[in-house]
Amino acid sequence: MIKLPEYQAKDFGKVAVLMGGQSAEREISLESGKAVLTALSDFGVDVTGIDYDKDTFKQLMNDDFDRVFIALHGRGGEDGTIQGALDSIGMPYTGSGVLGSSLAMDKILSKAVWRDSGIPTPAAVELNEETHWDDVVDQIGLPIMVKPVNEGSSIGASKVTEADKLSSAWVQANQFDDRVMAETWIEGGEYTVPILNDVVLPMIKLETAREFYDYQAKYIDDNTQYICPCGLDEHTERSLGELSNKASQILGVTGWSRVDLMLDESGNAWLIEVNTVPGMTSHSLVPMAAKQAGISFQELVIQILATSMVNTSVTKELEN
Ligand SMILES: Nc1ncnc2c1ncn2[C@@H]1O[C@H](COP(=O)(O)OP(=O)(O)O)[C@@H](O)[C@H]1O
Ligand SMILES: [Mg+2]
Repeated sequence: MIKLPEYQAKDFGKVAVLMGGQSAEREISLESGKAVLTALSDFGVDVTGIDYDKDTFKQLMNDDFDRVFIALHGRGGEDGTIQGALDSIGMPYTGSGVLGSSLAMDKILSKAVWRDSGIPTPAAVELNEETHWDDVVDQIGLPIMVKPVNEGSSIGASKVTEADKLSSAWVQANQFDDRVMAETWIEGGEYTVPILNDVVLPMIKLETAREFYDYQAKYIDDNTQYICPCGLDEHTERSLGELSNKASQILGVTGWSRVDLMLDESGNAWLIEVNTVPGMTSHSLVPMAAKQAGISFQELVIQILATSMVNTSVTKELEN
């Protein structure tokens, strides 16, 4: 059983849940935000939901909020920009700070840091108008996963099995991000590893009848399988958990995260990405893993909110 610190509603003061925003993941964020809002309100926290826009900072300051729960996914919310703005007004918030958020959002830079630290991640190259598609195949082989560098929810991503399809895959990904990457395709099983304050929660195995875990498999299909406990032996799960935790920490990610990885057919692990504000709807993956560990949705939300306390003490030290 995981032992968690206990909190009372009054420990948190006046809380704002930031949700929505303008990223491609707006709708999912609204769902996450509403679920978080309900859980905090049921716990007795003085909480307000805010659909994030340019007036939000004025509201945060004028209405004397004490802390913010960031339930924004994707660019603008998960990429360090809001984190920087909140730092500049001394407002504590949940999860990672500026550096961890921005490094984890940038899939090319995440991989560069991992490579430098000996953390296994598939070979990748950035693509642009001048790329020679045959060179990409020479460098990283086929099949290839083409995806936006800074996007989530599998938006704009596709699998390419022939060099002459790379160009159209690039065009598709480029609609969502100026920066696009090609990564060696890993054939095998997909897993995701939720982490709460450096404690690794039970891993989840994802199975889809589709080519990969794309937008449709994530949010629309009802036959996507989420297997938790994930079926790996205890030793393997523990070592993959440690690897994921290290991969997350090395990016400067703190508080909570969800690490995506693939296990190839020989059982080798390949780190894919770290999500610093994972989905928090009632059917999202972090809540699923927490439940497996005996942590209710409400308890999980409270523990995530408490990750803002670290910032609080830093702010207090600065004030003294
Ligand atoms: N190198 C890869 N090999 C095989 N499948 C991949 C690879 N990279 C990503 N995928 C698939 O695409 C999905 C989305 O990719 P990911 O990098 O996690 O981006 P997102 O931020 O959109 O979740 C993954 O969940 C996985 O199913
Ligand atoms: Mg992912």
